[in-house]
Amino acid sequence: MKKVARPILAGMVLITIIWLFIGDITPTQPPWFSAEQVSQGEELYSEHCSSCHGVHAEGAKSWRTPDENGHLPPPPLDGAAHTWHHPKSFLQQTILEGGAKLGGVMPPFADKLSADEVDAVIAWIQSLWPTDIYYSWSKREQKRANQ
Ligand code: HEC
Repeated sequence: MKKVARPILAGMVLITIIWLFIGDITPTQPPWFSAEQVSQGEELYSEHCSSCHGVHAEGAKSWRTPDENGHLPPPPLDGAAHTWHHPKSFLQQTILEGGAKLGGVMPPFADKLSADEVDAVIAWIQSLWPTDIYYSWSKREQKRANQ
């Protein structure tokens, strides 16, 4: 290969790599929720959830350490913990049925929130997630839908 061609080739490879990388981290799809759902969810969250999960969904301080009964304190819901690994159906179920099924202590909200209100709360929670976290969740959710 001629010496002049090398930098040009290297430049093209670099541009391709950057292009692939940006293509992978930039969300290609808008979120499933609307701005109205987010603002409705914010109100519902502050009424029903903030006392345990924190005003900004930051979770209890020592959320990784089980209490004396072996129960974990309320985790962050803002994308810092593993909430984003769960499908939307699991989040809906946890909020409606509470944590008892999985040996947890979170109270159920089926008698307080409608399905639409639960979705609004999830919308607000997800609006707090960093873009890359939301995108990873969304990609997994799409895969699950196609299975
Ligand atoms: C009385 C305290 C309390 C309230 C109120 C509460 N939670 Fe929880 N939540 C918990 C605890 C504790 C956990 C950990 C699992 C368990 O013990 O059930 C949890 C777990 C969760 C999880 C699962 C998180 C994960 O990463 O697996 C979600 C989602 C959640 N809560 C959402 C909510 C929402 C939304 C509300 C309001 C509608 C709410 N919680 C109200 C205490 C609470």
